[in-house]
Amino acid sequence: MNKNIAIIKGDGIGPEIVNEAMGVLDAVAARFGHTFTYTDAPMGGNAIDAFGVPLPDSSLETCLASDSVLLGAVGGPKWDSQPSVNRPERGLLKLRGAMKLYSNVRPARMFSDLSAACPLRPDIAARGIDFVVVRELIGGVYFGEHSTEEADGEQKATDIMSYTEHEIRRVAHVAFQMAQKRRKRVTSIDKANVLDTSRLWRRVVTEVAKVYPDVELLHMYVDNAAMQIVRDPSQFDVIVTENLFGDILSDEASQITGSIGMIPSSSMGEGTRGLYEPIHGSAPDIAGQDKANPIGTILAAAMMLRYSFDMAAEADAIEAAVDETLKAGIRCGDIWQEGCALVGCREMGRQIRSRI
Ligand code: IPM
Ligand code: MG
Repeated sequence: MNKNIAIIKGDGIGPEIVNEAMGVLDAVAARFGHTFTYTDAPMGGNAIDAFGVPLPDSSLETCLASDSVLLGAVGGPKWDSQPSVNRPERGLLKLRGAMKLYSNVRPARMFSDLSAACPLRPDIAARGIDFVVVRELIGGVYFGEHSTEEADGEQKATDIMSYTEHEIRRVAHVAFQMAQKRRKRVTSIDKANVLDTSRLWRRVVTEVAKVYPDVELLHMYVDNAAMQIVRDPSQFDVIVTENLFGDILSDEASQITGSIGMIPSSSMGEGTRGLYEPIHGSAPDIAGQDKANPIGTILAAAMMLRYSFDMAAEADAIEAAVDETLKAGIRCGDIWQEGCALVGCREMGRQIRSRI
């Protein structure tokens, strides 16, 4: 098969990790007889420097014309003083909106070879961590009206959070369908004791659940959920939640696995085209030093093959190559432990490629 992949290398460690993921994709193409064509789409701080905006129209067009998008990471302290409408993150939000990527899937899985890195008590970790956060991605307060004004001699800022039924319904379906392929439990997280948007969320999710009688639905308030994720993560299979809660809980979920550098994510809308990225940031402190862990991005490329290109065997090959590399005791700095070989970003990429 022939696939066009838009490449957003981004800022900080973005270019290094994306290069390794492209190397792995090339190894897959060679082994399975595919052709992947890459087109660069500048986005983030580097695009602000070169074009004055975080997401130039040409980059957006490249992404919209692609079969899928692979992204490293955007942002960095250099652009922190940009006005809020022109920050690197704005490029990402605009891209999510323009591609209509309403469901963001972030797995939180502890790799058995990396259990020593888990920050939870061993008896809690031993129960296992393997759940998925399905985050609504283009609604809620992120996409509501924002304003700052002068009121009664002081500044007043407002961010509006709103949801419509169809925005909730479509992402709920994604969660239930995912649960059907897993352990058949959806935990919907909201703040229905305070927020109208959450009361609507709860009602719509409960309605959607009727279509999936084989899946158990539980509701949980977001404050309790934040606690339960560290108290007993084994209770979760699929979490579904609105945009801002999902942003916060998915960072917490990834951290308890002990290996935030290993976790990929997918963002999808109606069609097969998706946006795939590691969930970690651009790590400017180690950029350009060949220290970054490329595995999150490599596993994001595997997700792209599985979910957008329907290439399950190819995705399996990448995931197996990552597992074997870890089993061989090869580690980047973020996941290094006593007795393992410490390697840089390029060498980690080479090790994984050699096992495809
Ligand atoms: C994420 C990030 C983004 C978000 C930022 C960079 C806008 O934190 O993907 O989780 O808040 O959605
Ligand atoms: Mg986030």
